[in-house]
This record gives sequence, C-alpha cells and structure tokens, in this order.
Amino acid sequence: MPRIEDNARDEHFWHAIAQRYDVAPGPINLENGYFGRMTRGVAQDYQRQVDFINRSNSVHVRQRFDGTQSLEIRAHLADVLKVEPASIALTNRASDALQSLIRNYTGLQPGDQLLICDLEYHSVEYAMRWVAQQRGLEMIEITHAHPATYESLLNGYREAFTQHPRIKLMALTHVTHRTGLVMPVQAIIELAKEHGVDVILDGAHALGQIDFDLPGMGVAFAGFNLHKWIGAPLTLGFMYIDPQRLADIAPDMGSQHYPEPDIRNRAPYGTPNIPAWLSLPKVLQEHLDLGGSKAKGERLRALRDLWVREARTLPGIEVLTPDDPRLYCAITSLRFTHLDDQQPMVERLLKDYNLLTVARNGSACGSCIRITVGMATTRDDIHQLIRALRELAVG
Ligand SMILES: Cc1ncc(COP(=O)(O)O)c(C=O)c1O
Repeated sequence: MPRIEDNARDEHFWHAIAQRYDVAPGPINLENGYFGRMTRGVAQDYQRQVDFINRSNSVHVRQRFDGTQSLEIRAHLADVLKVEPASIALTNRASDALQSLIRNYTGLQPGDQLLICDLEYHSVEYAMRWVAQQRGLEMIEITHAHPATYESLLNGYREAFTQHPRIKLMALTHVTHRTGLVMPVQAIIELAKEHGVDVILDGAHALGQIDFDLPGMGVAFAGFNLHKWIGAPLTLGFMYIDPQRLADIAPDMGSQHYPEPDIRNRAPYGTPNIPAWLSLPKVLQEHLDLGGSKAKGERLRALRDLWVREARTLPGIEVLTPDDPRLYCAITSLRFTHLDDQQPMVERLLKDYNLLTVARNGSACGSCIRITVGMATTRDDIHQLIRALRELAVG
C-alpha cells in the first residue's frame, strides 16, 4: 500500500482518476475554486435522478423525500462527518447556512462586539456587518500580517481578543477564497473559547480537500457546501450546530415547519434541488473511491507545489500563500509585483496561453491572481502555466 504522499505523485494513478471527468475542449481550467466538476459517474447518476423526479414529481417527493428519504440522506452525510444527524440541516449552499447562523445567533447583548478579518467571504462579511448595524453593535475588523505564518495568524486573534474584550461572536474562514490560505482553525477556536468568543466557521472550501475532524474541532456553528471539493452537483450545502448549542440559534424567520427543537427550522426554508440530494450517496461513494479528503488533498497540493516551486524563483512574481504545509491547499494566489491591478495579466494568461484564472481583490495583501488546480488538472496543464509565468515575469 503506497503512502498517501507518494501516491500524490503517482501520475499513472491520477491519470486514470482524471479520466473519470468529462472536460470540454477550450481554456485550461485553473479556476477550480469556483465549483468542482462532478465525475462522469456522478453526472450520470444526477441526470438519472433529474429524469426520475421529473417523471414522479410530487408523488415521490411528498410520499418519500419529504418524510423519510431526506432524513436518510442527512443520516448518510452525518455518518461521513461522524456527527449526529440532529446536528445537520440541509441547505442549498454554504452562504444560506452561514447567513442564517449569523442573523439568528441569539447571544448578542448591547455593547457586544463582532469580529471579522480581511479574508472572510463576502456573504459572511456582509451578514456580520448587517447584524452589527441592525443591533447597534461594534464591528472589529483585523488585517492579518503578510506574509502569514501559523504564529502570526494566531497572534492576530490573540491581540484582537485582548484589545477588545467585548468580542462575543466571530467569523472564521477555514480556507480563504482570496489566497487559499488555510487557517489554523483548531488553535483559533481554542483561543476563542478561552476568551468566551463564539465562532461561526465557514468551511466552504475545506470540505473534501482537507481532512478535518468536525466534532473534534470543538466548533459549535459551521456552514459548508458540497459542490466545491466533494464533487456534488451545484446547490448542495449544510449547516452544522452542536446539539448542545441549538438554543443559541433562533429558528430562521420564525420557522415552525418542524416541532421544536429541530435544527431544520434554522435552515432557510424553500424547495431543495431534490435530484441533486438523491445523488449524494453516489457522490460520497466516488469521493471515497478517489481516496477521500486526505488523498485528494495531497494530490491537489502536489500539483500546486509543482508550479509554486518554480514561481517562487521568478523575478517580479510574488506568491502570496505560504508554503507551511499547515497553511495551504489546492488554491494559491500570486501577483505581478509591478502591477496594482492584476486583471490585465488574467486576460493575457487566457488570450496568450489558454489558461483560465481569476483576479481576486479585497485582502490586505492586495489584488492577486488566484490559481486553483482541480482533480482533472494534469502535469501538462501545470507546465503550460509555468511556461506562461516564465515568459510574463519581468526581471
Ligand atoms: C470561503 C467561501 N465561503 C463561502 C462561500 C459560499 O459558498 P456557496 O456558493 O455554497 O454559498 C464561498 C464560495 O465561493 C467561499 O469561497
């Protein structure tokens, strides 16, 4: 049995895995952070479920899905995450889960403070600001040191908690969409606990590429999606609430759809994408067939290392994401240091080299180009990126 780290560089093995995905001709996709491709097997199963629900319509949904089947699907998901089914509510995306947790958190009193940093996702940042404004509370915003280290990230929070002892609630992004920085979430959650601060964890980019232990992290509130790294159809997400803390999140918009206490009242109400949920067993089976989060994560990081090693040697290019193995994943950002706006380089990468990337703004380290490898990325794709960076680098 090869070690997972060695397996990550076994091109023969990963070539066979890449064959499980249908990829359209056209630009090389290095923007896999937007959402993940489904394997062919999942796409076919999803199509079957679409046809099935289209034929059976409300007859199946009323008689089976609304009652037992949605609970079976939730139990399956809970089993994979090793949490109680009662701690999970299905949502249509991570934002739905996270925004509901933020707006319905009941622990805020006049005078309390809320904390965000410069790396939060927009929907989380906006919701935190909205709550602060609606309730007349103070918003504390920190900017992480750049380049970030494990210690500098922890220190950023340590200082914030010491300087602002009235912080009651904070957002924490496991993997930031801007630079791919992986936060030392477990240590930050422990620190927050010592200071009496509740954490709402944004796990959107973590699930499926980082092998974390949800119950072991000690977080009470979290939101995830399944359409980035697990490989599910779009529109699947879920909310996690530690059952001991359910009373700290009010039913969303006063929902009374289920007799209380029930976490499902905390999820925004509406018709879910039922065929997508029906494909979840196939999604989870394929995810495990590919080796689960650990093997997938190692492979993605090996591909990322391949281009980052080269990019770090090039003049005029700064790789923003650290190489500390605790702090990075598939996503890494760079910038051309002579440019304030990176968008023209994104356009050149596409026009001259057939490489799709995306510009990201908003973090304190400035405008950058986000490069995200995926499960269907090949070494040839990475070599094309390296060629482009060599040619575009200025000495
Ligand atoms: C860090 C982060 N959080 C949350 C989200 C929102 O996820 P969703 O599209 O499932 O609402 C994203 C989406 O890109 C993200 O990158």
